[in-house]
Amino acid sequence: MSFDAHSFIEKSILKIRQEIGSRKAIMAVSGGVDSSVAAVLASRALGGSIRCVFVDTGLMRKDEAAKVKAAMKKAKVSLAVVDAARIFFSALKGEEEPESKRKIIGEKFIRVFESEAKKWGASYLVQGTIAPDWIESGGGSRDRIKSHHNVGGLPEKMRMKLCEPLRDLYKHEVRIVARALKLPFDIAERQPFPGPGLAVRIVGEITPEKAAIVREACAIVEEELESAAHDGKIDMPWQYFAALLPTKTVGVRGDERSYQYTVVVRSVRSLDGMTANFSHISPEVLQKISTRITNEIRSVGRVLYDITNKPPATVELE
Ligand code: XMP
Repeated sequence: MSFDAHSFIEKSILKIRQEIGSRKAIMAVSGGVDSSVAAVLASRALGGSIRCVFVDTGLMRKDEAAKVKAAMKKAKVSLAVVDAARIFFSALKGEEEPESKRKIIGEKFIRVFESEAKKWGASYLVQGTIAPDWIESGGGSRDRIKSHHNVGGLPEKMRMKLCEPLRDLYKHEVRIVARALKLPFDIAERQPFPGPGLAVRIVGEITPEKAAIVREACAIVEEELESAAHDGKIDMPWQYFAALLPTKTVGVRGDERSYQYTVVVRSVRSLDGMTANFSHISPEVLQKISTRITNEIRSVGRVLYDITNKPPATVELE
């Protein structure tokens, strides 16, 4: 049976109303298609009793806060931006282990929301969790692959109740709902962005300097691959970004030896993120990306292209 977006929208609006009733809720909006769709559904269901918040963790994409705010305004969802970068960077200081980093981020997210919720008087937290998020976080007989931050990273004693209207959907179904809701193209068709943000693209310890490098590198990869797809040079990948390795490598800048960061470019084809194949990108496009990254980010001296499928790799590096 094919997925009926309009019936899903009607049912989930009713379900959210039944679940939350006249109580107040807070909603985490990241700007990705999942949380944006959940925000529109919850806003339609609850009207003025939901407060949508964008938490700027310092690990978001370039110009994200402004872009998300504008897109939500178009969808008639009012959005408050909370600058929490300092909280996240200081909590992550010195931590290298991927699962611990995810847990810290999940926990801080919840604490920031709890504090916003307290101000707002909310007892519910609405999240854009989709099926692969909780399937991969382990449950029943499944192995935990990684703790997606909106599932495995939740602290045990969370003080708010959770409402997850998209829990049973896969990404392509969320996009169908986004189109049915008439969300702007750059939200409905936007590539997935992980809950922990750029953190899962920084292998090892996270610092504001590394976040700035990976943010700029991601913006370059997005611009170049979108433009190559627009010009018909490549098929539009499902997800495409840059990641930063913890190892520096030797190179040459001008006449001098350099010892600088290594960036990995990752671009994959996938249906739902559960499996993925690396994209076949032409050498000319890759060369342009590499040249731009090493020219525009002076602390990066080497660019690699990831040619691993999922499995055995995952899409993100952590
Ligand atoms: P992986 O790296 O697990 O990624 O192969 C599969 C898809 O999920 C995204 N991803 C996440 N999404 N919270 C999310 O909401 C997370 O913690 C998370 N980790 C990975 C990833 O970007 C890809 O689209």
